[in-house]
Amino acid sequence: MKTVAVVGTQWGDEGKGKIVDLLAADADVVVRFQGGNNAAHTLVVDGEKFILRLIPAGALHAGKVCVIGNGTVVDPLALCEELAALRARGRFIDDALLKLSCDAHMVMPYHRAVDHAREARAGRRAIGTTGFGIGPAYEDKMARVGLRFDELRNFARFRDKLTRNIADKNSYLRAVLKAKPLKGGEIVDQMKRVRGRMLPYLCDTGAYLAEAVAAGKRVLFEGAHGAMLDIDHGTYPFVTSSNCIASAVFSGAPLAPGRLDAVLGISKAYTTRVGAGPFPSEIKGRLANRLRIEGEEFGSATGRPRRIGWFDAVLARFAARLNGMWGLALTKLDVLTGIDPLRVCVAYQVGARRYDEIPPGRSALERARPLYEELPGWSESLSGARALSDLPPNARRYLERIAELAGVRLVMAGVGAAREATIVFSNPFLA
Ligand code: GDP
Ligand code: IMO
Ligand code: MG
Repeated sequence: MKTVAVVGTQWGDEGKGKIVDLLAADADVVVRFQGGNNAAHTLVVDGEKFILRLIPAGALHAGKVCVIGNGTVVDPLALCEELAALRARGRFIDDALLKLSCDAHMVMPYHRAVDHAREARAGRRAIGTTGFGIGPAYEDKMARVGLRFDELRNFARFRDKLTRNIADKNSYLRAVLKAKPLKGGEIVDQMKRVRGRMLPYLCDTGAYLAEAVAAGKRVLFEGAHGAMLDIDHGTYPFVTSSNCIASAVFSGAPLAPGRLDAVLGISKAYTTRVGAGPFPSEIKGRLANRLRIEGEEFGSATGRPRRIGWFDAVLARFAARLNGMWGLALTKLDVLTGIDPLRVCVAYQVGARRYDEIPPGRSALERARPLYEELPGWSESLSGARALSDLPPNARRYLERIAELAGVRLVMAGVGAAREATIVFSNPFLA
């Protein structure tokens, strides 16, 4: 297959970055199509750890084209920092490999200020956003007052719009959010400085990708966040502000519908969530702490401890349906070593009723009690496993049961953070 999308099936941080990095070896182009630097994708390559926020996770392979599509929102200052950090480590040096959509919207300092002030004001009702201004940037896009990268070409016109936006946001910050207004002149100067850095990357990514696909190139689409954080299908309002399912590829890369060959969903072997909102299979106490430490479950974007839970097959089925998943990659199987028995949430109970699918009216999830099935654990370390036959029988049984419950075939299993610590049953580019 030639065009493959990788998407998260839970609440983000499933290990998408690691799998994209692995598959990028067989791809020509890697594309981000939604979200912004609220994403944090961790790669461990040759013993070195990298966290990519905006730059697609093809950047650590030599010669791969990295595209940031129009459906993303991009903080130009964050992009400059990320590029500089990679270059300081001798990576992703060739400027010609980065293509930034001229239609992508810019995240501005006032978006970050609004994000922070709103969260502070919401107190206990806060969403627990990453604070990077992502929601406010998407709001401006929909309100048709956002600034797109293309507008940097004519700086005088750009400055007028920017100055108007800063004045509007300052009124809102002052009057409604009771927060400190921003210094407009500083923002204009910052953008003036950043402009020259951005212009060489600008590209009509739709035209570029259509040509690449027509030429038979292999294109990998890198999703951010996860199905349960999707603005339409997730646990609204405790979600992010973009569509995170595979259909966003068609509007946000863009790729024409019908041109996507396969969707690979990524799940952890258990579940995590950062920020507030319902989480039916959540566990607390000693076991949660143990998994948090063994799995290093601290947000790569904000350092916050991630909430921990058992694998939730109801969510997995939901994500498989929404994404039309070709296959599932289950990461972090190694983290479950030594836990016996293991539990998997197979259905919910709401009141007296059992639900095998997510109950209608998402607020029902807040009242959903998990119904578990128990599976036997294993005590062997999995970190050296490179084939299914290297896994202890109970680990194999766990994988088989999850695939069965999710209704989708398992194509990869992760047994460590490093690129090579992955058992690949089927590689979509070679399938
Ligand atoms: P993403 O946002 O979906 O790319 O995921 P993150 O990078 O935010 O979080 C996943 C974390 O798990 C990262 O620290 C990865 O290095 C790590 N990771 C990924 N796959 C595995 C795995 O199979 N085993 C272990 N132990 N760690 C993994
Ligand atoms: P990756 O791509 C985990 C969560 C935030 C918060 C909610 C809204 O690394 O999987 P936002 O800043 O987007 O407005 O915050 O969404 N969130 C993520 N959680 N991984 C992510 O991305 C996330 N991106 C957003 O924690 O609950
Ligand atoms: Mg992450």
